[in-house]
Amino acid sequence: MGVETQINSSGPAWTPDSWRTKPIRQMPSYPDQAALRAMETRLHGYPPLVFAGEARRLRASLALAAEGKAFVLQGGDCAESFGDFNANIIRDTFRVLLQMAVVLTFGGSVPVIKLGRMAGQFAKPRSSDTETVGDLSLPSYRGDIINGPEFSAGARVPDPARMEFGYFQSAGTVNLLRAFASGGYADLHEVHRWNLDFVRRSPLAERYQDLASRIDETLHFMAACGMTSESTPQIRETDFYTSHEALLLPYEQALTRVDSTTNDYYACSAHFIWIGDRTRQLDGAHVEFMRGIRNPIGLKVGPSVQEDDLLRLIERLDPANEAGRLTLISRMGAEQVAARLPKLLRATKREGRRVLWVCDPMHGNTITTAERVKTRRFEAILAEVRGFFDVHQAEGTVPSGVHVEMTGQDVTECTGGARQLSEADLATRYHTFCDPRLNAEQALELAFQIAAELKARRMPERNDIAAQ
Ligand code: PEP
Ligand code: CO
Repeated sequence: MGVETQINSSGPAWTPDSWRTKPIRQMPSYPDQAALRAMETRLHGYPPLVFAGEARRLRASLALAAEGKAFVLQGGDCAESFGDFNANIIRDTFRVLLQMAVVLTFGGSVPVIKLGRMAGQFAKPRSSDTETVGDLSLPSYRGDIINGPEFSAGARVPDPARMEFGYFQSAGTVNLLRAFASGGYADLHEVHRWNLDFVRRSPLAERYQDLASRIDETLHFMAACGMTSESTPQIRETDFYTSHEALLLPYEQALTRVDSTTNDYYACSAHFIWIGDRTRQLDGAHVEFMRGIRNPIGLKVGPSVQEDDLLRLIERLDPANEAGRLTLISRMGAEQVAARLPKLLRATKREGRRVLWVCDPMHGNTITTAERVKTRRFEAILAEVRGFFDVHQAEGTVPSGVHVEMTGQDVTECTGGARQLSEADLATRYHTFCDPRLNAEQALELAFQIAAELKARRMPERNDIAAQ
């Protein structure tokens, strides 16, 4: 093992457990502290789920995205669940992400970095510590890695044993994702065929047909030039990375390791982890933990963030101003993005900060229906992405990607889209354990519309001609 402490310009020594001296939010209170400590020790002895070299490769790709030479697609469940752990669910989410990526690659004419909210996205921040039904108040559900969703006193007790289950579920998930990514399932021709099938079945088929046909033509052209699945590994294989919110710090610390090639610390629970909008206090535990690991990391940036806060956080998390290190995930809401984002973009640009800006059009657009169902309108989601692109265009900065909550299943959790799901439809297949996700079709529609947007912005003259 290598160094035990690291000193950097942003203050006192960092250690994997220095976060424990800081105020912490959203931390479950485990009644059995001895069991918690025993579980941390046990997890610390288990193999890492990812290799530091992979995280470095992702960081290098993200550096390209910061310059507009690649585009990030981050997506998956709001919360993975222990009950929904099977091959089909993993496969279907992976498949839709690949489908979206092909369309976005074509639209943006740049490689798409595929980053699943998968294989570890279990812990959830909550707005209230308790949930009340009738006369009964119980601790809130905080994600399957912490407690159970059932509304019973027993299920809601934070149980450290759940961390081990989360670890093994993440290992099983990442194993299958790697097999899919390199074993032939991700073949570009297959993915394109799934897209053609989607377009054929969509009520908005004509709108998506043009882009699909162009991709078709391009693949035929490439094949004619000798670039086939057999001759070209890039066509039959892909890179796929995992990510989640680094909320449960005892778990994250237990999976933090010194990389033997560089002597740096890496969080080995996923390639990329992020700080949520509720745990981004400058002197809080989450920021402390994240500043010392060398993975590429994310920071959610909600409407309450001021320029000074943001610059201080950036300095703390990325003191070396290293391209690809820090991704700012803007989640302002469709109505606020035009008012809130420009000054933050200006501040980072003025300070020469080499951060990436990615748009999460989900978390600022959650609404509750009259029946008290949490949902999101497809149109609001699309509007926030467009607003995000507009603001970047006006400021001369780079929109580097999107971050979405979606699933490969045919759920009814968000309204709108080509099938025009209404609030009355939500009850049909509302399966999420946390926030409402785009279903497979809505996710693809979003990708087609973003791709068209990227293309129009890349080649405005061409589009003017096409529109005539
Ligand atoms: C999330 O990504 O599921 C989440 C809780 O987001 P935020 O921290 O931006 O609210
Ligand atoms: Co969410």
